[in-house]
Amino acid sequence: MRDYLLLYINGKEYRIRGADAFKTLSNFLRYDEQKTGTKIVCEEGDCGACTVVVGRVENGEIVYKPINSCIQFLYQLDCSHVVTVEGVRDDGDLNAVQQAMIECHGAQCGYCTPGFVVAMCALFEDKDNVTAQDVRDALTGNLCRCTGYDSIINSALQIDTQRLKRMRDLYPAEKVMPALEEHAGIPVLIEYAGRKYFNPADLEGALKFKSENPSAIIVAGATDVGVYCNKKGFDPPAVMSLSNVPGLSQLAVEDGVLVVGAKTSLALLEQLSKDLIPELYQILWTFGGPGIKHAGTLAGNIANGSPIADTLPFLFVMDAEVEVKSVSGQRTIKVRSLYKGYKSLDIKPEEIITRVLIPLPTERQTLKLYKVSRRKNLDISAFTAALLLTRSGSTIESVRIAYGGVAPLVLSLPQTEAFLAGKEHSLETFQAAGEVARREISPISDVRGSADFRYQLAENILLKFYYETAGERELVCR
Ligand code: FES
Ligand code: FES
Repeated sequence: MRDYLLLYINGKEYRIRGADAFKTLSNFLRYDEQKTGTKIVCEEGDCGACTVVVGRVENGEIVYKPINSCIQFLYQLDCSHVVTVEGVRDDGDLNAVQQAMIECHGAQCGYCTPGFVVAMCALFEDKDNVTAQDVRDALTGNLCRCTGYDSIINSALQIDTQRLKRMRDLYPAEKVMPALEEHAGIPVLIEYAGRKYFNPADLEGALKFKSENPSAIIVAGATDVGVYCNKKGFDPPAVMSLSNVPGLSQLAVEDGVLVVGAKTSLALLEQLSKDLIPELYQILWTFGGPGIKHAGTLAGNIANGSPIADTLPFLFVMDAEVEVKSVSGQRTIKVRSLYKGYKSLDIKPEEIITRVLIPLPTERQTLKLYKVSRRKNLDISAFTAALLLTRSGSTIESVRIAYGGVAPLVLSLPQTEAFLAGKEHSLETFQAAGEVARREISPISDVRGSADFRYQLAENILLKFYYETAGERELVCR
């Protein structure tokens, strides 16, 4: 058992003990290590000023991805290599990304610039050529309030990639990988001032710890927990990371079922969805910036259980299941029967989500996912919906419907589904179904929209769905 975290920062080894293990990475970098190139602005994963890259050992190499260091705790980074803006310099000189930012006037006040530079370095980690769309996608999570994005995007397109040294060139794997691999096989327990942190080396260790510490929070990406800690003073007494547990990173289709491991990032799920489930891809594309999607997981989105979680309506209509394990065994639970109330899940305190099992749409089914938010990208939803239609000619065989943002939990709409089953696929049918849908929901008014707005959305989304599945282009305004 270790009583310390092992990580590297810009190629230098750190052994972190005690209180430091519970600090955010951005605070540790700035206030303990004086690496002030990493900026803190929003402290909730929205602006990208704190972007660093984190490398982890995957299949015999170190794979580097961008993350937001303000909502990443050191205890999540055991056995990883963190590279900050100070660490991307090329033999003490500005690297090709920094040089392009100067030549294309990509900075004014400069406060956002280190985040952009690191995010661009991450973009080029496994690419030589990029399109403007690649750049936009990679920089979605980085905000600039004075330069304007055109010159920043131009900078990315002008980078001399022949000159650019990748992380693998700056930090040869043989220098850091042996220690990372060796330490990943040793569990970590750190106790400090009433706080406890455990990072097991295998699933058995994780299940045993959870049975002995049932109130322990499992922290994967911390994209939500990190915000609670920073903004609401949340301070869980016991946390467990599964970062070193092997066997939880599956992402594969098995007999028509998409299997997503508890540690699989949303970024990998997004990548796979592009051809497999384009509707899900569109939702994940707008879900958050790369720093969020490389850290966050589908299991985390399920466990967090927000009524406006963007993936839940999709999981409801696909009849997805979560696999949970404990020292007593394992079971699967339908996602649509998982929630008992606001953020209240039918998962026992000693159980851990290990996989999510998602039946894929068949050829006879049409899936549509909707997200309504004030901004298109990186915004919290006011309303979400998923509809899965099975049609026989012009007759609706069945429709599965789930709405988010209309009650304390994501809802299936069984009465609306029953109303639609067996009816003609027509505008009149879906208009009448909207009246039924209204009676199945109980939205509230909040900063994202009024209850009336959500009632109207519950109707209108059925009309939108009708026109999209009927192949018509006419718009409905009510
Ligand atoms: Fe804004 Fe971290 S400070 S994302
Ligand atoms: Fe000032 Fe981007 S250069 S915020």
